[in-house]
Formats: sequence, C-alpha cells, structure tokens
Amino acid sequence: MTIRGLAVMLLSMAMAADAGAAVTKAAFGKMPDGTAVDIYTLKSDALEVKVMTYGARIVAINTADKNGKVADVVLGYDKLSDYLADKKTYFGSIVGRYGNRIAHGEFKLDGKTYDVPKNDGGINSLHGGTVGFDQHVWTGKEVPGGVEMTLVSKDGDQGFPGTLTAHVRYTVHGRTLRIDYSESTDKDTVVNLTNHTYFNLGGVGSGTILDEEITINADRFTPTDKGLIPTGELAPVAGTPMDFRNATVIGKRIHADYEPLKLAGGYDHNWVLNGADGQLKLAAKVHDLKSGRVMTVQTTEPGVQFYTGNFLDGTFKSASGWPYAKNTALCLETQHFPDSPNHPSFPSTELKPGQTRHSTTTFTFTTQK
Ligand code: BGC
Repeated sequence: MTIRGLAVMLLSMAMAADAGAAVTKAAFGKMPDGTAVDIYTLKSDALEVKVMTYGARIVAINTADKNGKVADVVLGYDKLSDYLADKKTYFGSIVGRYGNRIAHGEFKLDGKTYDVPKNDGGINSLHGGTVGFDQHVWTGKEVPGGVEMTLVSKDGDQGFPGTLTAHVRYTVHGRTLRIDYSESTDKDTVVNLTNHTYFNLGGVGSGTILDEEITINADRFTPTDKGLIPTGELAPVAGTPMDFRNATVIGKRIHADYEPLKLAGGYDHNWVLNGADGQLKLAAKVHDLKSGRVMTVQTTEPGVQFYTGNFLDGTFKSASGWPYAKNTALCLETQHFPDSPNHPSFPSTELKPGQTRHSTTTFTFTTQK
C-alpha cells in the first residue's frame, strides 16, 4: 500500500472510530417548581455516559473492566430527589461560577470589591456560592455525539458581576468523554468552571480508592492554609507525598506526617500542571489494579484539584444502599487555581465583554491486564 493509501485508511479508521456516539433523551424528573429535568445518554461501543440538565451533571459512566464486566464508575443517585437532597457533594456537576474557593468570599476587580457567599464554614466561598451552577437546571441541546448544556447566570448572581453565558458540551468518541467549555460575559467578571465527578474505577460499591494508582503530571502544587486557601506559593512536589510524577498507590502516603495532608484530611489540593496553559496535555492517569480500568485525563487548564473524597461521611448512599464513605471516590477537577482572583501571580480567571473563554478536558477509559 502507498503512503497516501495508508494515510487515507488511517484517517477513515479514525473517522469511523469517531462516528459519534448515539444520543437519546428521556425525562429524569421535575424540580419543586415543576421545571422538567432531562437526562441524555451518550453511547459508543466502549462507553455509556448519562448527563442530566440539573447541574449539567454526569449521572453515570458505564465501562468494562479487563474481563469485559461493565460497571458504573461514578458516584451518584438514580433519582432526582436524591440529588436535590444532597447540597454537599456536588456529585457529577458543573461547579461555578467560580469552582473551588475564594478567600473570605471577597475579591477585587477593576478597583471594586465584590462579596460572594461564605458557604464554606462561614469563612470562604466554595464552588460559586450557596446556589451555584450545580443547582440550576441547564438547557440541553442534542449535538453530534453528545449534548450541549447552556446556562445564563444573571448579573449579580451570588454577588458575581456580569451576565455570564456558559456552554458545556459533553461528547463521547469511542473510549473518550470530552468536555468543551465556553463562557462569555457582558461585564468584567471572574470565571472558573469545572466538572466535579467522583470516580471509583472499581465501580460503585467496590470499596475505597486507596488501592488505586495515580500519576499526576505536575512538578509543583499550591500549598494552602487551614481553610484550603492557597498561600500563593508554587511548591515543588519533589521529596513530598504530593509527588505523583510516577504512578503511586493513593493510600501509600495519604496518612503521612505531612502538614498539607493533615490540613485537608487527605488529598484536596491543586497541582500545577506541566506543559502550556491552553494546550491539551496530560493531567492525570488513574489505574485500578483489581479491575484493570484505567482513566487518562487531559486538559487545556493550568491546574487540577485532586480530591480523595475526604468529606464523604456515609450520609449519602448509592441506589443499592452502599454508603458513600470517606475515600470511596476521587475527583480530578481540571481548573484554574483556587482563589486566583486574589492572586495576581496565578493564571488569570478574569473575563471581559467581547472575549470567549474556551477550555477542554477529556477522560479516556481503557483497561490494562
Ligand atoms: C474541594 C473540597 C470540597 C469538595 C466538595 C472539592 O473540590 O476541593 O474541599 O469539600 O469539593 O465536594
């Protein structure tokens, strides 16, 4: 075969693999005010992803283990009422307008001070405030291979300036779930959206994630104070339990006598990703040795919050009654750094009228024997 023939063949194979997932839509329930909530199922040969309009949340990701056994690898519920009753975990949601924390619920922009809710222990602001994007019903629209969710957050919503229009597009391509974000505003504002899915690659109900192995593509992380607000330092991971540049079992050092781990009760920190901001690069890779499932996360964002579900306490349960207890899942929230509006040296989260902010994160599910 000629080189050109080979190239055409490879391209058509790639296009066939990317033929796009089948998309179906169904009703998931109604909000207390009667607003309908829909759920979309995106299905390829390797992956079935369910996303609903309440909080633009990932409700399920079904994928096979090394023996072909399919399981749901994300924490969630099978009823809308359970999602409405849980205002603590943010399961599967898009968090915003500002994912993670803003110190003392306060920041300055263009010389003006803005106050946003101190919904994290009455001290700091967390995940966009008391009624964040996770609690809104987004508008879903079917797109090839997926669904695009749209939310318009009004000027002054939770204290943030500017009408912010957010589009979050979920598409499935073979083994990959891709999330494309875009945001625009009509006044200067700050924005930091991320997806807050809790993964357990062994499958919901299989135990904790402490035996899973993780690699994080970062030489540095952002140490915090006891309220989990970055001090501003970009500290080297070398020689610390934060060094995941080589695959390491999560539970190996989680209880180490190391201040940042003690402050957070485990891992709940932002890693400064190696590679250029704005380019798709490896963020992290997780390998569940028992099931053989592997998840590779790539992002254009500069950081990732690796959170080991330290605040899960068993109050909330799966549909089959399995308690969502401490360390039963992990989150990899690709993002700008926490509290960036108060740290001019961090990559900026400011957005101005006329600009559109874009970012992309992909989650690829494979297996390894
Ligand atoms: C934060 C945790 C927080 C959790 C809420 C994570 O993004 O870093 O500190 O408790 O979200 O579910």
